[in-house]
Amino acid sequence: MRDKVPLSNIDIENIPGHWLFARIGKKVLRPGGKDFSKEILNIVDVNNKDIVEFAPGLGATTKLISKLKPKSYVGIDLDKTVCDNLSKKYLNFTFINSKVQENNLEDESKDIVLAEAMLTMNDNKEKDIIVKEVNRILKSGGYFAIHEVGYKDGVCDYSIEVSNRSLSNVLNHAIAPLRIKDWEKLLTKNKFEIVEKKDKDRDMLSIKRIIRDEVIFRTLLMGLRLLFNKRLRKRVKSIKNSFKQQNPYIRAFYIVARKN
Ligand SMILES: C[S@@+](CC[C@H](N)C(=O)[O-])C[C@H]1O[C@@H](n2cnc3c(N)ncnc32)[C@H](O)[C@@H]1O
Repeated sequence: MRDKVPLSNIDIENIPGHWLFARIGKKVLRPGGKDFSKEILNIVDVNNKDIVEFAPGLGATTKLISKLKPKSYVGIDLDKTVCDNLSKKYLNFTFINSKVQENNLEDESKDIVLAEAMLTMNDNKEKDIIVKEVNRILKSGGYFAIHEVGYKDGVCDYSIEVSNRSLSNVLNHAIAPLRIKDWEKLLTKNKFEIVEKKDKDRDMLSIKRIIRDEVIFRTLLMGLRLLFNKRLRKRVKSIKNSFKQQNPYIRAFYIVARKN
């Protein structure tokens, strides 16, 4: 049975950008693609560990995690369709439909928390609450990995404000990336030590990246859907153009941090 796409009742012009790409057929919705996700999983070593994935979305990383045989897995996403789809696929995994900051997980009960392309969608106050929550649920020495977009360190506050407003407008949902050094600060001030970090061009919508993330067949299918749907094409083009303007100032990055 095919997965349902979240918010399928919302029209093309108004649906949030990530669910627009999901409607076209994209499964990988994070800025550094599957390569970054694989690198993170390599560093934290999921096998036989208790892992929590914040915001699994369409489950591209959930699939990678399932192959690594964790001891337990909990996925938390505020979208009900996400949790319904994934619960049917991964019978030994638990999916909770809630905001990650309102989870009921026990104190110091998990080895790893992974959050890809979700903190950016939460405002700065919520980001802080979420990181504190991670600190609460992780065992001492446990890993917290984030994979997001971040501004280059020299970009000024005013430019960030203007860029965030313009990207939020075109994506139809609020996004608030920080400078990469401020993402690091968010973690260290909440008692995490940075273990590993990496950044690269945000190439999420380049053909090369799409083929690597989605394989040829799905890439062709996405191309056909765009070819035959003018409204989809128009919306994707406006998102691409907006990111093209901001791309010189932003990077895809991941940080793996350890709870002190
Ligand atoms: C851009 S998608 C990323 C999905 C997936 N992590 C990926 O990288 O492909 C963002 C996801 O974050 C979820 N989300 C955003 N903020 C959330 C929050 N505070 N609590 C739970 N889920 C959240 C959305 O429902 C959506 O599934």
